[in-house]
Amino acid sequence: MSKTVRRVGVVGIGNVGKAAASAVLHENIADELYISDIDTERAKGEAWDFADSIELTPSRTRVLEAPLEGLAACDVLLVAVTERSQIPTQSRLELLKGTAAIAYDIVPKLRKAGFKGTYVIATNPCDIITYLFYKLSGLPKNHVIGTGTALDSMRLRRQLSQVIGDVDPRSINAFMIGEHGDSQIAAWSQATVGGQSLDQFEEDNIDEFGPIDRDLVEDAARHFGWEIHKRKGNTQFGIGNALAFFAKSILNDARVVTAASVIQNGEYGHNDLAIGVPIILGRNGVERIIKYRLSEQEQEGFNASVELIKGYIKKTLEEHEETTAN
Ligand SMILES: NC(=O)c1ccc[n+]([C@@H]2O[C@H](COP(=O)([O-])OP(=O)(O)OC[C@H]3O[C@@H](n4cnc5c(N)ncnc54)[C@H](O)[C@@H]3O)[C@@H](O)[C@H]2O)c1
Repeated sequence: MSKTVRRVGVVGIGNVGKAAASAVLHENIADELYISDIDTERAKGEAWDFADSIELTPSRTRVLEAPLEGLAACDVLLVAVTERSQIPTQSRLELLKGTAAIAYDIVPKLRKAGFKGTYVIATNPCDIITYLFYKLSGLPKNHVIGTGTALDSMRLRRQLSQVIGDVDPRSINAFMIGEHGDSQIAAWSQATVGGQSLDQFEEDNIDEFGPIDRDLVEDAARHFGWEIHKRKGNTQFGIGNALAFFAKSILNDARVVTAASVIQNGEYGHNDLAIGVPIILGRNGVERIIKYRLSEQEQEGFNASVELIKGYIKKTLEEHEETTAN
């Protein structure tokens, strides 16, 4: 009987990388899990620590520390690298310079080593870094995916579930789209509860829970990450589990709908950037971008997000050209 070996790599074994690796093991997502970090000794320590726990997980995953080039044969690489910063920052965009430099360093190395799998990128600012990975990797558009507004969408559904009578968030279809940052918006016009439009659901049940304060719910989804960050200095379990969910969905060809930051082909009127939209995620990475018919106001909000991301992409590419010219 032939056996396909499922190989997942984690690049950057800090708060997020560790949470992702743990979820990969506890959900039996990989046969081999490769851990890579610029701090190789720490990566070794983490890999050995994870290996110690294997007997108590549902998997028999081999956990190995590896140099970057050693990840080339992976099916999926979960990217959670960042510069170590002592300064808590509310805006993910302030992180750009450091993380862009890391992308320019690691992606060409992985390309040279022959990586042909799928990148799933959590590193912030997620949309801009996802675009850089696409540009530098030489991989097709569907193989470079940022977690984008996936986590924000989970937050939206949870907040919403609490104001509409505690409906299981999994029975709600509602997504944050746009930048994984302050300019993201809730695509309210497309939201459903058990297949019924949210508008109709609200109207039918208005006596029970009153009108939904959409601004409040949306704002909570947009800023909840910062509320966590203020208190514990990072966020890791939500995003770590989201990374593992992306790996699992790709390896199992789940064809599940999620929000993600992906390269646009005009679906929302724009090209040449990565931004959060609903997609179908499967073996080929982005199987399809779901094309919402947004309300005018939503499209305006989305367009503003596009402009913001495009501005930062342009700045980053120009700065890199200047550095390499000098
Ligand atoms: N997308 C999301 O929803 C979301 C949520 C939370 C965090 N994040 C992002 O995830 C990233 C990681 O956050 P964290 O808290 O785990 O950071 P962290 O500082 O704990 O870990 C980052 C790791 O990257 C490693 N690293 C740095 N440069 C490297 C290189 N060139 N090659 C390999 N490894 C390298 C560091 O040594 C460190 O171990 C950040 O960009 C953060 O903003 C994203």
